[in-house]
Amino acid sequence: MNMLTFPSEAELNEAAAGVITDLVRTKPHAVIGLATGGTPVGIYRTMIRSYQNGMVSYQQVTTFNLDEYVGCSVEDPQSYACYMQEHLFRHIDVQPMNIHIPDGSVRDPEAECRRYDERLEAVGQLDLQLLGLGHNGHIGFNEPDHSLISSTHVVALRDETRQANARFFDDPGRVPTHAITMGVGAILKAKKILLVVKGSDKADIVHRALTGEIKTECPASLLQTHPNLVVMMDEEAGRHFR
Ligand code: GLP
Repeated sequence: MNMLTFPSEAELNEAAAGVITDLVRTKPHAVIGLATGGTPVGIYRTMIRSYQNGMVSYQQVTTFNLDEYVGCSVEDPQSYACYMQEHLFRHIDVQPMNIHIPDGSVRDPEAECRRYDERLEAVGQLDLQLLGLGHNGHIGFNEPDHSLISSTHVVALRDETRQANARFFDDPGRVPTHAITMGVGAILKAKKILLVVKGSDKADIVHRALTGEIKTECPASLLQTHPNLVVMMDEEAGRHFR
């Protein structure tokens, strides 16, 4: 595990975006797993800047997003598909046919999970998976439980997760109850994982996840087993590691 702490959010964003742009420059047809939430917004902004400066092209890149809310269509401003367009895709030259996000609006979400896994299996392995961290230790939407699921699946969101994500909804009562998430199998199969953690409210959970017991009750603790894990934190999130 390679753990790095940064004195400012700007430096953290720069370093995390640098991992992605370095990969794409050395491997133009890289397959990248992307995340949503508040954490990656600044990273995506930094990536857009380096694209606009002509330093990198995403023309041949393939992307797979971690998750999507069940019941949210691409047109829904609260969908992760919309988030990705707003915060990254519409600003860079990634090809729409190379973008993969589970479709939360389908009638049969279970079938959508199988379809997503088929797409993932077709690429074999993600070159890089970008991850944020939930306050309860979730990765993607793999919530703490007695057991975890390896493949893409439908998950009932925990109350604490719905509360944490209510800030993105005009009406907090509208936070979906279920999501489709990539399972821990595809995440852990990635050649490299970049876990980014920001803010003092994540200090306890990131410390527990990376130094505590490996338990499904803290899905992020499984990351300890990954041979190529890079953790980037701001000083607030990394305060227990000092
Ligand atoms: C969300 C997403 C995760 C994300 C996490 C943390 O619910 N499903 O992929 O990493 O929760 O979000 P944030 O970065 O907003 O704290």
